[in-house]
Amino acid sequence: MAQKPVQSDNALADLQWLVAMGADEAVADEPIDRFSIAPVVAQKPQPVTQSKPAPQAARRAPVTSPVHSQARAVEISDNSVADARKMAAECGSLNDIVAALEKFDACALKRTATNLCVYDGNDKAKVMLIGEAPGRDEDIQGKPFVGRSGQLLDKILTLAGLPRDGESPDNSVFISNMVFWRPPGNRKPTEAEIMMCMPFLARIIDIVRPQFIVCLGGVPSQRMTGETKGITKIRGRWFDYQYENGKAQLLATLHPSYLLRNPEQKRLAWRDFLALKQKLTGQGG
Ligand code: URA
Repeated sequence: MAQKPVQSDNALADLQWLVAMGADEAVADEPIDRFSIAPVVAQKPQPVTQSKPAPQAARRAPVTSPVHSQARAVEISDNSVADARKMAAECGSLNDIVAALEKFDACALKRTATNLCVYDGNDKAKVMLIGEAPGRDEDIQGKPFVGRSGQLLDKILTLAGLPRDGESPDNSVFISNMVFWRPPGNRKPTEAEIMMCMPFLARIIDIVRPQFIVCLGGVPSQRMTGETKGITKIRGRWFDYQYENGKAQLLATLHPSYLLRNPEQKRLAWRDFLALKQKLTGQGG
């Protein structure tokens, strides 16, 4: 087929489509046309005695569509969640959690992510923040909230006297996310992905034992409280959160990336952090 000349408008639209699909990094200098690679042909089951190696093309991983892999992820979630629970229960420290997640292969996000991204901040802090999922910068650095929304979050935390590098439990925070690998293209994590990561997050909470939990945005706020209303309806609300060996007061607030898109809402988020600060210093009851 003759190649059409590249029109800059088309090229831009193609690039935007690729980024939206999650292909936002170049992994090699030359592109590979995977459609021209011979498709995998279904093989008859071979007797185990046959030792001849399969031809190259047949050994290539089959190309699956996002819908296909999502359906598979939901299908495998029951066993995977049980495995995750078992592995998480055996963790006695944050290092154990990281080591367990490095071994845990059931979550499909791991295959497309560059790095595992588990936590940052002071593990003695009274306040724990929970975001949705690592983004591109977090995936590169392996640390939550280091990109643009993280920079805004750091400004808010510093103004509130709760920097993530604060040394005392009263003036610092511990930060994690609902899932520990970046969803491709920054899409929302699926139900299955959240369910598989949840036992590890619950174990992190048990180990850190926060007195306050701040959920950043709708996904963590709804998942951690069971509320079904949207974040703009529940932000500013406090909930009781019981964990294995303690309890915390949980606050739902707006996600910093929402604040970047809607700067006029920053005053609401600031109101929430002031309420948190008041509770922390014992003035808010
Ligand atoms: N958004 C999140 O929810 N978490 C991060 O770590 C970064 C961006």
